[in-house]
Amino acid sequence: MTRILIGYASAKGSTEGVARRIGERCAAAGIETKIVSTEKDLDFEQFDALILGSAVHNRDWLPSAHKVVDRLGSSGRVPPVWAFSVSTWGATSTLLARRLTRRIRRTTTEPKTVAFLRTTADLRDHRQFAGVLKHGDWPLFGRIVFALMGGRYGDARDWSDIEMWADAIVGQLRTGVSDST
Ligand SMILES: Cc1cc2nc3c(=O)[nH]c(=O)nc-3n(C[C@H](O)[C@H](O)[C@H](O)COP(=O)(O)O)c2cc1C
Repeated sequence: MTRILIGYASAKGSTEGVARRIGERCAAAGIETKIVSTEKDLDFEQFDALILGSAVHNRDWLPSAHKVVDRLGSSGRVPPVWAFSVSTWGATSTLLARRLTRRIRRTTTEPKTVAFLRTTADLRDHRQFAGVLKHGDWPLFGRIVFALMGGRYGDARDWSDIEMWADAIVGQLRTGVSDST
């Protein structure tokens, strides 16, 4: 049976919610799925695939997710990895003004830790999802910048995009279409 490990780094819970929905989707497709915070040890070597996701703070992944990526680089057997980032904007939804989001999608480089992950593991895909932001999550300066960016507080997670991404991973694992070995 195919086994997937899903590791997530989440400060306020929205990334954990994305990880859990991906896990539910994989489990419903008959895949053995384990979901673990990156604050804990990830024994990824026993798994056929690793899905690793993090909230984005200050344009990069959270430190606990970065540590996992570091560990991948020094491990013997690393399964193929699918990565996701959760931030104010995603590929299909956003907390920011739409026009600004279109520009950000075109111009923003991926988080540094994801770029690093490309060098340490067999990274099959990286997907950007919009997450959740509440008024009290930012310090004053952040709230001002967010307002200038046309930001709206709330939950912008696009569950159908998240589920489609999970289904695509399941499909790729089943058919071995993206197997680069
Ligand atoms: C301190 C802080 C810094 C953030 N920095 C960024 C950032 O640089 N870029 C961005 O798009 N979103 C940023 N965000 C928004 C979060 O990525 C977003 O709220 C995400 O859903 C948080 O995930 P979590 O609920 O799992 O912690 C930041 C949020 C906080 C609280």
